[in-house]
Amino acid sequence: MNHLLKLSDLTGEEILDILNLADQLKYEQHNGIPHPHLAGKTLGMIFTKSSTRTRVSFEVGMYQLGGQALFLSGNDIQLGRGEPIRDTARVLSRYLDGIMIRTFKQSDVEELAEYGSIPIINGLTDFCHPCQVLADLMTIREKKGSFKDLKLCFIGDGNNMANSLIAGCIRLGIQVAIGCPDDYRPDEGVMAEGFAAGLLTVTSDIFAAAKDADVIYTDVWASMGQEGEAAERQKVFANYQVNAELMAVAKPDAMVLHCLPAHRGEEITDEVLEAHADEIFEEAENRLHAQKAVMVRLMA
Ligand code: CP
Ligand code: NVA
Repeated sequence: MNHLLKLSDLTGEEILDILNLADQLKYEQHNGIPHPHLAGKTLGMIFTKSSTRTRVSFEVGMYQLGGQALFLSGNDIQLGRGEPIRDTARVLSRYLDGIMIRTFKQSDVEELAEYGSIPIINGLTDFCHPCQVLADLMTIREKKGSFKDLKLCFIGDGNNMANSLIAGCIRLGIQVAIGCPDDYRPDEGVMAEGFAAGLLTVTSDIFAAAKDADVIYTDVWASMGQEGEAAERQKVFANYQVNAELMAVAKPDAMVLHCLPAHRGEEITDEVLEAHADEIFEEAENRLHAQKAVMVRLMA
């Protein structure tokens, strides 16, 4: 593993290795055991979209690993004024030990990896969000004990989260059911892989998708960059909500996950979010541990 550009670049074994290390780092952090695997190293963090969790967890994670992180706003570095990605990649590779990038186009992340000579970590694109799903899988295993015989249901837009959840879950043998409007299905290539594995169903019937699910997952109706479509999406997704009625068809002990930020009253009710707040905020915490494991594997 040289980069984390998308989850489908990893095997199931590589994902499990990251999750096992993440569990260990979480234990060490909670018990005050130092783990300076990246002493003296620097991570650059390029953001051309907003962030709370990704920014803070990478920056704190680097500090806890003995290194440091630099926040590079897309507006402030020359990239925002048109300096090519390929030049940015070659320059930053001479200063840094790794780059985390959050941006729009997946192809920009791939180009950074192609022209740079240091590990590149995808901190979200329009196509995928691999770091989030590593934290999600960590949280699922913590609560359920293993990945055996599990069904995860995603309700909402077939977006970056849906794509990465499919890629991650099928590598660990987890069944995935996507409940989304017909015009908002996940990426064709990602779905093809899920269908070929015999682990994916995609339907516009959210109750069929959620039936007997062990994990219910949702995300915002309008992602970053889709603000102009927000009004139309409110109408299209009006019935794609995780609420008490939907939870009633899932397994009685089903957990609820949300990558956050959440829009209460849209994709999830306040009632369901608060009833599952322990799981959802543990999931947010696990971003820190899972990403530290990724950085150790890529940069140590
Ligand atoms: N879930 C997630 O990536 O959150 P941020 O947008 O706050 O980083
Ligand atoms: N789908 C959302 C995820 C945010 C973490 C977005 O891209 O804005």
